[in-house]
Amino acid sequence: MRTSNSASALGPVRRRVVASTVAAFLGLGVAFGSGLAAPAFAADPATLSGIILGVGSNETQRIVTWYSSADTAQQVQLAPTSSLVDGAFPASAVTFAASGAANIATSGGFNRHATLTGLKEDTGYSYRVGSDGNWSSAYAFKTQSFEGDYDFLFYGDPQIGSSGNVAKDQAGWVDTVNVSLAANPNAELLVSGGDQVETANTEAQWDAFLAPTQLKSYPWAATIGNHDVGGKAYEQHLYTPNTDRSAAYYSNGTPSSNTSGGDYWYIYKDTLFIDLNSNSYATAQGGGGDAAHLAYVTDVINQHGGEAKWKVLVYHHAIYSPADHAKDADNKIRRVDFSQKFSDLGVDLVLQGHDHSYSRSYLIKNGAKADATEQPGAADVYPGPGGVLYVTANSASGSKYYDITQPDNTGTSGAGNGADPLDAGKYWYNSVQNQEHVRSYVKVEVRNDKLVVQDLRSGTCAAPNAAVELAKSPCAETGQAVGSIVDKVTVHPYHGSGQDIQVNVPNAAPGEFGWTIDGYNGLVDLGTAVDHNGDYFEATGSINPIAVSDSRRSLAPWSISAGVGDFTDGTKTFSGSYLGWTPKVVTAGAGAKAGAAVGSAYDDGGQGLSVSRGLGYADQGHARGTAKLGADLDLKIPGSVDKGNYRTTLTITALSS
Ligand SMILES: [Fe+2]
Repeated sequence: MRTSNSASALGPVRRRVVASTVAAFLGLGVAFGSGLAAPAFAADPATLSGIILGVGSNETQRIVTWYSSADTAQQVQLAPTSSLVDGAFPASAVTFAASGAANIATSGGFNRHATLTGLKEDTGYSYRVGSDGNWSSAYAFKTQSFEGDYDFLFYGDPQIGSSGNVAKDQAGWVDTVNVSLAANPNAELLVSGGDQVETANTEAQWDAFLAPTQLKSYPWAATIGNHDVGGKAYEQHLYTPNTDRSAAYYSNGTPSSNTSGGDYWYIYKDTLFIDLNSNSYATAQGGGGDAAHLAYVTDVINQHGGEAKWKVLVYHHAIYSPADHAKDADNKIRRVDFSQKFSDLGVDLVLQGHDHSYSRSYLIKNGAKADATEQPGAADVYPGPGGVLYVTANSASGSKYYDITQPDNTGTSGAGNGADPLDAGKYWYNSVQNQEHVRSYVKVEVRNDKLVVQDLRSGTCAAPNAAVELAKSPCAETGQAVGSIVDKVTVHPYHGSGQDIQVNVPNAAPGEFGWTIDGYNGLVDLGTAVDHNGDYFEATGSINPIAVSDSRRSLAPWSISAGVGDFTDGTKTFSGSYLGWTPKVVTAGAGAKAGAAVGSAYDDGGQGLSVSRGLGYADQGHARGTAKLGADLDLKIPGSVDKGNYRTTLTITALSS
């Protein structure tokens, strides 16, 4: 026997399907084609504004948020752009019902949002919001491959209104968005560093922030800054997925007050993003403070870290930064408690704002420089266990710049702001610091086995550059062109003490045997298990089908088998033997036959799927072709198992002779 593809030297081909039970993803919205749109109003008087495309729970989703002048039932209508005829949406367009509420008095009107789900990869979509007879203009976005490499862009503090001149701030912001997306048209996410506006509830500033038309086509991943927190406009304009709006994640502990807040997370193509409301500093202010954030990050990583290859944290208040806020008391505290935990949790990259200047840290481990020999401005860094890169973005709009400040004698680790032994002009924790009074943005290239982080100029001293135009910051540029690189670093991740073996399993070429997970390999979610009088819990579901292709002339036999480890939730666990299945041939071909049904250990005292079991196979002499194999899962666990959101990994093995 040999393994099923060209990487035979590596042993059996393994791919992973993650299964979970007891808790489900939030907010799935209205499914495609469900026809659940609210009844249309014959003459809906609503005026629709502020439409923005936001990030969803994963790459198959987007969230659209907007304002409405009237409290009417509304939807988002969506169709592949290729199906529109002369701009008209086809009858097959699907709708997603909007939710929302009344805005606070100073905003006026109402907010609406809807989650678009079930998006397909590599597809251009058009959408519009409103209701029958009163639709907005149509806007377009595209999805790209749901697997593999991608780029995202990170923008620091647009803070529209900060210069005192909203129009100039808007002009700089629009220009940075234009420049950055002209240079990176295939960027997949626009990630916020916080401070969208200067004054939390001033809608004229929000209008200016929302002015770039690209914000309707590229998903914005919102982050709350200290200038956004003092009102509800942030939440009204920027609905976010998987958001925990508990009191602990609000700076004053009161979500119902005229403040915005919440911590949230999403997974985008193998990257787990966790976005924190860093305005909640301390329990003394009423919120949960840093302890609550750390518990949140820990929980999310424990529950979802296994679904992604990278872990990226985003929050506003930079803890390693070079300018006005470098010595803030809250940052000194966080440089101790955040850093230790982020190292422990294996965070790869932390993106920050607030200090309106650019910095890239040395790799920081447990509150200290991880490697004393790392050189300033190193082009490549190797985090080892626990090393974390912290980046602070400069102003994306030019509305305000902070100048770099000087180190002091408070030490070169932990809360200290001492000088770098390798460059006394810098803080000990920063590899690169930059302030030219020029707009910039950060580009992150997510690659198979590296992250490439760059800071790129999106302007010069010339207008639009409000802080320079208004003589708040003198021109300090160094003659560098728009698009030039301020800094670039490649992060090469650590793979532990063992060896990671990676193998791509492509679609089978003629004359080969191959298999792949059919379509998007999303989570196999068994939902919430049903309690049977305290005796046992039961949950059911199906695996993502496995597509098998065999075009070999040998007509040799093949088989696919799979098994699971223990189900775990943090330190809680139960045996994978409680999972059974009934394999089936979903699409016949290639001589495929289904493997035998396996019961749960709860029923038969056997080993269930805790040992590898046959999903399907074909005998010698079978027909050539393709097949799809599926299996219905049946999980039956004793009533004594603790409550939790458990997860395990299904390891699939293919053999062919
Ligand atoms: Fe700011």
